[in-house]
Amino acid sequence: MSFDRKIKIAPSILSADFANFGQEIRAIEDQGCDWVHVDVMDGHFVPNLTFGPAMCKAIRPHIRSVMDVHLMIAPVDPYIEAFAEAGADIITAHVEAGPHIHRTLQAIRATGKKAGLAINPGTPADVLEPVMDLVDLVCVMTVNPGFGGQKFIHSQVDKVRNLRAMIGDRPIHIEIDGGITPETAPLVAAAGADVLVAGSGVFSGGSVAKPEVYGQNIAAIRKAAEAA
Ligand code: DX5
Ligand code: ZN
Repeated sequence: MSFDRKIKIAPSILSADFANFGQEIRAIEDQGCDWVHVDVMDGHFVPNLTFGPAMCKAIRPHIRSVMDVHLMIAPVDPYIEAFAEAGADIITAHVEAGPHIHRTLQAIRATGKKAGLAINPGTPADVLEPVMDLVDLVCVMTVNPGFGGQKFIHSQVDKVRNLRAMIGDRPIHIEIDGGITPETAPLVAAAGADVLVAGSGVFSGGSVAKPEVYGQNIAAIRKAAEAA
C-alpha cells in the first residue's frame, strides 16, 4: 500500500447483502471503489453485532484492493492477532474502547499491519497528538458508531480541519465514517479528508443484479469530493 492523498472511496459492507458478500465485494470493486471497509461490532462497545475474524478471513480472498477493518469492540487487544491473521491490511481501533490506546496501536503495528485510530463524535481531535507516530490512519466518526444509514453530524467538519493541520506532511490518512453522500463528501474533502467510507451512500438502490447503481453512487461521491 503506497501512500497518497487522492480521494479514496471505501464502501462499508455493513450495507451489503450479508448472504452474498463475495459477489457484493466483486461488484463494488468492479464498479470502481478503492478500499473495502469492514465494520466489526460487538454488541458491547456499540449497540449492534456484526461479525468477527472468521467472517473476515472468509471474505478476504474476494478482496483485490485493501481490506480496511474497523473494530468497534472492547476490549480490542485480545483480538488483534486474529484480525491480522484474517488478512486485514488496516486495523482501526477506537480510542474510547479502553485505557491503553498506545499499547493497542503498538500491538497492531507489531503484526505488520497499518494502524488506525478511530475517534467518536464526542471525542476531541487532540487525542491523536501523543500517538501520532504509531498511526497510519485516523478515522473521524461523523455518526455515533453502531448503525449504517444515520445522519451526518456537521460539527465534526472542524475536527477534520484541525486534524489535517496537526498531521502536516506525515503519511497519515484521514478517513471519514458515517453519513457520506454527494452532499456531505465535499465538506470533509475540503477540510482535508482523503478516505470516504460510505455504506448506504454506495449500496442503496443497487444490488449484484444492478451493480451499475453502485458504480453511479461511487462516482457521484468521488466527483463531489474532488470538486471541493
Ligand atoms: C457505523 C459504521 C459505518 C457505517 C457507515 O458504525 O462504522 O462504517 O456503516 O454507514 P453509512 O455510510 O450508511 O452512514
Ligand atoms: Zn466503519
